[in-house]
Amino acid sequence: MRDVRKTAEGLAHLSGFGNEHSSEAVPGALPDGRNSPQRAPLGLYAEQLSGTAFTEPRAQNRRSWLYRIRPSAAHPAFVRTDNGALRTGPFTESVPDPNRLRWNPLPEPAPGTDFLAGLWTVGGNGDASRREGMAVHLYHANSSMTDRVFSDADGELLIVPERGGLLLRTEFGLLAVEPGHIALVPRGVRFGVDLLDTVPDGGQSPTARGYVCENYGAPFRLPDLGPIGANGLANARDFRAPVAAYEDTEGPVEVVNKFCGNLWTATYDHSPLDVVAWHGNHVPYAYDLRRFNAVGSISYDHPDPSIFTVLTSPSDTPGLAGVDFVVFAPRWLVGEDTFRPPYFHRNVMSEYMGLIEGAYDAKAEGFVPGGGSLHNMMSAHGPDRETFDKASAAELRPQKIDDGLAFMFETRWPVSLARQAAEAGHLQRGYDDVWRGLERHFGRG
Ligand SMILES: [Fe+2]
Repeated sequence: MRDVRKTAEGLAHLSGFGNEHSSEAVPGALPDGRNSPQRAPLGLYAEQLSGTAFTEPRAQNRRSWLYRIRPSAAHPAFVRTDNGALRTGPFTESVPDPNRLRWNPLPEPAPGTDFLAGLWTVGGNGDASRREGMAVHLYHANSSMTDRVFSDADGELLIVPERGGLLLRTEFGLLAVEPGHIALVPRGVRFGVDLLDTVPDGGQSPTARGYVCENYGAPFRLPDLGPIGANGLANARDFRAPVAAYEDTEGPVEVVNKFCGNLWTATYDHSPLDVVAWHGNHVPYAYDLRRFNAVGSISYDHPDPSIFTVLTSPSDTPGLAGVDFVVFAPRWLVGEDTFRPPYFHRNVMSEYMGLIEGAYDAKAEGFVPGGGSLHNMMSAHGPDRETFDKASAAELRPQKIDDGLAFMFETRWPVSLARQAAEAGHLQRGYDDVWRGLERHFGRG
């Protein structure tokens, strides 16, 4: 295995969310004062990558200019290839299910499974070709992507590692993420994934596991802060973008392109990760979730979990997200006369939850790292019986919640399952039982 760990540890980065970054791997590669000079510096090709329509408002507009060894247009025809376990909206394989659902982690992958081959769709909503909705995927890989890169025309990919670090080799440069970090690869950006770690039990095969939100809709942005003020939640300066780094390699490289739900492949005679310099704001980025500035009640009651929103993909309706990415990061609970765990509720939004490490404060057991739960539109959920009993009787001293890192993809439409998720052997039977023992107290004293 190449020493990708050492590479990952030495990486430089650019700071900030949504910035107009610029970076050049070779001095002088970036044109000065114009995007597309008659002859780009160093014999490079100039190319724009648009993540939003040319005419979207400036505050939402995303595009980057790439200066590369060969233009992206120089490629052979793509041909269809097997979609593996990837599925795409519209999701019609199964009847939308109002039940509370929970899964154990995916089984071990077959030897030689890379990030792309290891993507496994849970479900989703909307329609990728209409650029609205989202999909929830898991990945489980034990091999780096060698001579193979991926790009997703259907949406941006929010990657949430749960086990094993990843080195993302992108057109914009290298990004390293560990469990507890997130990485985002914008729509259409080519990238490969190398694994950073060996398995925790000392086995020979590297392994990586985690979650992916494929967002077909508007690019994720930081949520507005309203009365919270100018700072807090995920701070813009903590986001990392790569510095330019390029591969100047000749030889066959498989380029897999996800387009309107299907995978297409072409074999290039060079690496398309050949961008020597770039500038713009349609860029990959990473963020350490432990830097999240959690805001909560210092008087009473539990705020709605929207207070933990890291990133939001807005819809055309103000305040209504296509999908929010929400993290339940370490925090203090100090509410007086308050039931402190997440409350019982029914929500018009649909909630897919995953666990990166430890335990989640509303579920005493059964919700494990690498697993997931789905509480679809208006399904009733909340703390399990053990959590309810404990929290109802607890002495309300200030309490630090620091033994877990859970997250949620919260989306405007119900999540319909891929058949493989509806029929999975790792779908837990009897999840309803966690609420079964909640006894009647009314009228009993
Ligand atoms: Fe909920």
